Amino acid sequence: MRRRHPAIFRLFCIFVVLGACTLGTAAPAFAGTLYDDLGERPGLTRIVDQLLVLVLADPRTREKFDNINIERLKGRLVDKLCDVAGGPCHYHGISMAGAHRGLGITDYNFNAMVEDLQTAMDRNGISSWTQNRLLARLAPMHRDIVAR
Ligand code: HEM
Repeated sequence: MRRRHPAIFRLFCIFVVLGACTLGTAAPAFAGTLYDDLGERPGLTRIVDQLLVLVLADPRTREKFDNINIERLKGRLVDKLCDVAGGPCHYHGISMAGAHRGLGITDYNFNAMVEDLQTAMDRNGISSWTQNRLLARLAPMHRDIVAR
């Protein structure tokens, strides 16, 4: 006669099989929070340092940073990204609309900075799954940053 396994055992098997199926796909089965996956504050600081090196050298963005206090901006950007990623920090700087008003930022500049951010994350070993999660949280800021 065929023995039936108890329901709890069958449920356990389903979780094991589902877990195994999701491993190796784009989204890891047991991902940490976005803040953790970005390497917490030290990881974000390395990403922002790299981002600023790139945007200051990028002919598509660099003129926007003339006469800007870069050390101060670095700190603000780390706070902002830490906050956006759900880390234990609060961004106390001015609003995105206020910070970028009058800079005349275009879609061209914005997209270039997004590309530079992706490069900065690549260079810090951040997976594309985690990169996309951060970019999805930054995308709604486009309307406040790009001048109309
Ligand atoms: C989602 C994308 C962006 C985010 C999250 C972001 C975030 C920030 C933050 C947090 C500050 C500091 C505000 C403060 O002083 O409290 C700032 C300032 C600034 N951002 Fe952005 N930014 C973005 C896109 C851009 C782009 C595309 C450019 C130009 C290419 C740009 C140029 C600047 C400049 C020049 C300042 C300094 C303004 C000043 O101190 O007067 N930003 N940004």
